[in-house]
Formats: sequence, C-alpha cells, structure tokens
Amino acid sequence: MTDQPRLTIERHGAVTLLTVNRPEKRNALDGRTRQEFLDALEAARADREVRVVILTGAGDKTFIAGADIGEFADRSPVAQYEASRRPSVYQAADEFPKPLIAMINGYCLGGGNELAMACDIRIASDRASFGQPEVNLGILPGGGGTQRLPRLVGLGTAFKLIYTGQIVGAAEALRIGLVDEVVPHAELRARTLALAESIAAKSPVALRLIKEAIRASVRAPLDEGLRHEQSLFAVAFASRDKEEGVAAFLAKREAKFTGE
Ligand code: COA
Repeated sequence: MTDQPRLTIERHGAVTLLTVNRPEKRNALDGRTRQEFLDALEAARADREVRVVILTGAGDKTFIAGADIGEFADRSPVAQYEASRRPSVYQAADEFPKPLIAMINGYCLGGGNELAMACDIRIASDRASFGQPEVNLGILPGGGGTQRLPRLVGLGTAFKLIYTGQIVGAAEALRIGLVDEVVPHAELRARTLALAESIAAKSPVALRLIKEAIRASVRAPLDEGLRHEQSLFAVAFASRDKEEGVAAFLAKREAKFTGE
C-alpha cells in the first residue's frame, strides 16, 4: 500500500490529468502527496507536449479534504516553521506557467479549497462542497486561504466562511464566485476534459503570456498591471504563434500553434 503513488498521472493528448490518490484518507495532503504533486507539476512544466493540466481527487466523493490533520498532531511550532519554508504546493500551482484547472468532484475543504483557489479555473460537480474548516481545529487557513478567498468572493463572504468554517454546496459556491462552473456529477470529467482540450488547441505562447498578465492583475496596482500587459503584448508579437494565428485568420483556415 505504501508504495502506491499518491498521485496518478494520465495523459489525454496535450492534457495531463493529475489525480490525488488517497481516497481512504479523503485525499488529504500529506508530505508525500505534496512532493509528488510538486514533481508532477515540474514534469508537466518541462514537457512541451503538455499544454494544460487538470487536478482532481480519486474516488467519487472527495476532491481534497485538506491538509493531513494527522501530521499536525505532534508538530511543534519550529517544525511547522520549517515546513512552511519548503516549496509550497499552493505557490507552485499559482506560478505553474500553463493553464491549470481544478476538477472538483466532491469535498473541497481546507487545503483542498486553497489548492483549488490557486488553480486558474474551477469546474465543480453538483455534488461538491466547499469550506475552510480550520477554525474548528483552532488554526487558520495556511495555504493562502486568507488571501485568495477574499479576492475571489469578497471580504464579507470570506470572513463569514473562514470565521464559521461553514461548508457550502456547489450552487452556493457558484453564486459567490468561488467556482466558475457547476456541472452534473456524471458529466464532470467529460466537460472538464473538453474545456482543457479547447484551451490546449490555443497558442502556448499566448497562454503563457495570458497567465502571467492575469496573475499580475491580483498582485500589482492597476497602472503597473496595465504596463506589464503591454510588455507581454509586445512579446507575443515576436512569436511564430502570432504570425500563424494572424495568417490563419486572414486565410480563413484553422491555426496550428507550435508554442514558438
Ligand atoms: N487529514 C487526515 N485525515 C483525514 C482528513 C484530513 N484532512 N480528512 C479525512 N481524513 C481521514 C479520516 O480521519 C478517516 O481516517 P480513518 O479511516 O483512518 O479513521 C478517513 O479519512 C475517512 O474520513 P471520514 O471522516 O470517516 O469520512 P467521511 O466521508 O465521513 O467525511 C469529510 C469526509 C471530508 C467530510 C471528513 O473526513 C472531514 O471533515 N475531514 C476533515 C476536513 C478538514 O477539517 N480539513 C481541513 C484540514 S486543515
């Protein structure tokens, strides 16, 4: 059992599907799972054939039920400080240079919700549920939840969710802007793969620059973000993908992007 990978990796053409595979622990993120996720993202980053990555959880009920609470039990403040200095899965997801989609198939709690929020797009099953229940453990979200949740849903809703630890369903998550789309459970995989494939057909150069520009929008003040966007726009003009995209449009044919 211990030798089973905690993360399975499937390729569907230019799309890589990563599945956290610890259903007996509701896909909770322990140290080994985190490391396998970091390694898988690095491999997906380095592989030019991979254009989009999807993250999901194994089984029918859970995306990720948070950090592994068992690891918290005997952890000293110093050990926690050291753990927080190691590369973070949340930062790695945020900075991953290709589109990253969370396919949320069930419980999306604590660090699971924080990891989903660090992805670019969240597609949820109508059976999924969401929350930051850390307050019930006497702690606070430590994977970026206090920063990313208010940016997505606004201050008051973030306070309410994090103060109460309340779990909300998919329809409410959609209403407050925590997820981007809710689909019937049985259609989640097909819908998410179809979305990923449609994005994977676009120019990798453009996707890379779009991600950098949109990520900058939440970090930088507006005027700085706008200047940054203009620089990236000029970079896009140096790419073969831009030549191909414009030529294809003018010739009324499908563009074939190479990522150069
Ligand atoms: N960390 C470690 N173990 C976890 C876990 C977590 N975040 N979430 C679930 N598990 C474990 C349980 O301890 C249990 O282990 P056991 O079989 O060895 O006793 C197993 O997964 C199944 O959990 P259980 O609670 O019986 O499943 P459920 O289907 O009834 O409920 C949840 C699922 C997700 C609602 C429930 O497990 C839960 O609330 N988990 C904690 C969520 C949380 O607080 N996350 C924030 C962490 S900071």
